This record gives sequence, structure tokens and C-alpha cells, in this order.
Amino acid sequence: MATSTTQLEITKVSKSRINEVDWVNLPFGKVFSDHMLVMDYENETWAKPAIKPFENLSLTPATSVLHYGQTVFEGMKAYRNKEGEVSLFRAIENAKRFNQSAKRMCMPTIPTALFINYVKELVSLDRNWIPTEEGHSLYIRPFMIATDPYVGIRPSATYKFMIFTCPVGKYYSEPVSVKIETEYTRAAQGGTGYAKAGGNYASSLYPAKLAAEQGYQQLIWTDAKEHKYIEEAGTMNVIFQVGNKIITPKSSDTILDGITRKSVMEIAKDWGYETEERQISVAEIITAIKNNELKEAFGAGTAATIAPIKIISFEGVDYKIPNGKNDLFSAKVLNYLNEYKLGKVEDKYNWILKF
Ligand code: COI
Repeated sequence: MATSTTQLEITKVSKSRINEVDWVNLPFGKVFSDHMLVMDYENETWAKPAIKPFENLSLTPATSVLHYGQTVFEGMKAYRNKEGEVSLFRAIENAKRFNQSAKRMCMPTIPTALFINYVKELVSLDRNWIPTEEGHSLYIRPFMIATDPYVGIRPSATYKFMIFTCPVGKYYSEPVSVKIETEYTRAAQGGTGYAKAGGNYASSLYPAKLAAEQGYQQLIWTDAKEHKYIEEAGTMNVIFQVGNKIITPKSSDTILDGITRKSVMEIAKDWGYETEERQISVAEIITAIKNNELKEAFGAGTAATIAPIKIISFEGVDYKIPNGKNDLFSAKVLNYLNEYKLGKVEDKYNWILKF
């Protein structure tokens, strides 16, 4: 892993755009903070790290990422705790996953300490952009693109790593209706499903559009081979409560190893629930719904946080799922995670990075 040898250069905006933000009606992912970080990979080394005003990129139309999608990204969130410090949730996990994604896409890795350091530098500079409203946060988007000006197929020799941040409101403002997808496939064994690679998201757009036309905000993907086993929801992992058990599909090469998902499972175990990470068939969930054993279903992800599911559709039938009650596990774990990130409860798992 080649490491940058040059110093981080910082150029600040001459005038902040922060006063233009409508903090009350904050959308997800449309408002961008003042600065961004850029670092280039050339001659097998990361070099020229710089923080500068958020601005457009200039790329030749031949830039390889534009044609073949050699790109990976991460999603993280920063909060401001009651002491006014910035708090990052499990940032090291994002740094590690970024590198796993990069390896799969034949891209260079970034030392985790450097990755975290650059996130800290950027977020520190734009710390006033961290919203304080309940449920809002500063979403951090690190990503990397292949930048060779070359139309042939081969791994690029040059890359651009960037981080920008956006103050965000909720991704889903209410419980979601989801459709179990049994025709299209998000990921197959041996593919890139576990990586946060742009193409995974691009290929899910068409089936998601068809489902949206039928009134569903999300798909629950099933395995590529038989369409029998539940995988994930694309924008988030899925978790179910059946009886006293909290269950979720086991991470594999077709499922993103979600950081919120694994945090929820750890908390559930600590709270005395039986937890299982295993293969879950669609038939098992439908039977549990029919037998009134499915207490709830929800998505878990950085952007989505905890997103209760109100309807699961399978083979043309809409099944209503309990949601919206404060005594449900998802509501309790969401509340706990919110307090955890804001430093209102003890950091017992050592998940918070403060600065
Ligand atoms: C995230 O949760 O951070 C993601 O990258 C998912 C994306 C749908 C915004």
C-alpha cells in the first residue's frame, strides 16, 4: 500500500455558503458543505492531498470511470455531541470497508489512519455544517474514481480519491413499503455485491423503478440462483424480529457488510434477544407473517439509519407489518443509537471517535 508523502494543503473558501441553508427543511444529499478533499494516485503513490472549496471537477470525456464504472464509495455520518465535539460513528469500519471495496474493484487502497485523518480534517473545517436538529447529521461521502484517459479495458493507473460532506435530513421520513424481488438480481456469488461499488447501485435502478411504479419505495433482493433467500435492500440491510429472535441474512459476497446492521445485532444480543445471522428464506418470513410471529421488519444503514417497514409485498400480495410503536425493538434501538452518537449514553463498545 503506497502512502502519500506530501502534506495536506488547505485552501479555504473566501465566503461560506452556510447562510443559504434551510436547516429546517433539509433534504438528503442535495446540500453540500463548503469544502472537499482531493488526493491523486499517480506512479503507484497517493500524492497531493488537498482540501479546497467544493467545486466541479474537470475531466476528459475519455476518463475511464465514465465508461466502465471503476469507482467505490463509503457513507459515514458526523454528529455534534452535547459538549460541542464532533462525533463519528465506527469510522474505522468505513475505512476498512472502503479498502475491501477498492481491492475488489482493482483499485489502490488507502491506509486507514490516513483515511480517518482526512475525514477528521475535512469535517473539522466544516464543523459548523453539522446539523443539530433531531434525526439530522452531516453525511460524509468518501469515494474514488479511475481517472486514466483511456477507452480500452484495463485497471486504471491513476485515481482520484475525494471526500465531500452534506448536512442531511432523514433518508426515509416514514415507514417504507418494500417488494420482494424475484425476477431481477442485485448480486451473484463471486460478483461485487459486498463492495460499495457504483455499478451495484446503477444496476438496481431499473428494477427499483418498476417497483416504485407499483408503489414500493424499496426492493428486498433475493439470491441470484433461486430467488428463495433474502439478501438486502440495496439502500440498507434488512433485519426481522420473529418471536424473541432478531434475525438478519448473514454477510456474504452478495450482501454489503453493513455497519449499522452489525451494530444493531450486537446491541440486540446485549439486550438479551436471541440473535441469528444466517440464511433466511422468503418462505420463512411469509409463514411468520401469516402466523403473526413476525413482530417487525426494518432496514438498517448509514443513510437510512433504522427504517421501519410497513408493507412487504410478495407474489402480488401486500402483507402489513407492525410498525410505528415506541415499544418495538427498532424504535428502541434507533433511540439508543441516536443517543449513543450524540454522547448521551456511555460509549460502551468504543464506537465513537470524538474531536
Ligand atoms: C449509505 O447508507 O451510506 C449508503 O451509501 C446508501 C446509499 C443509498 C445512500
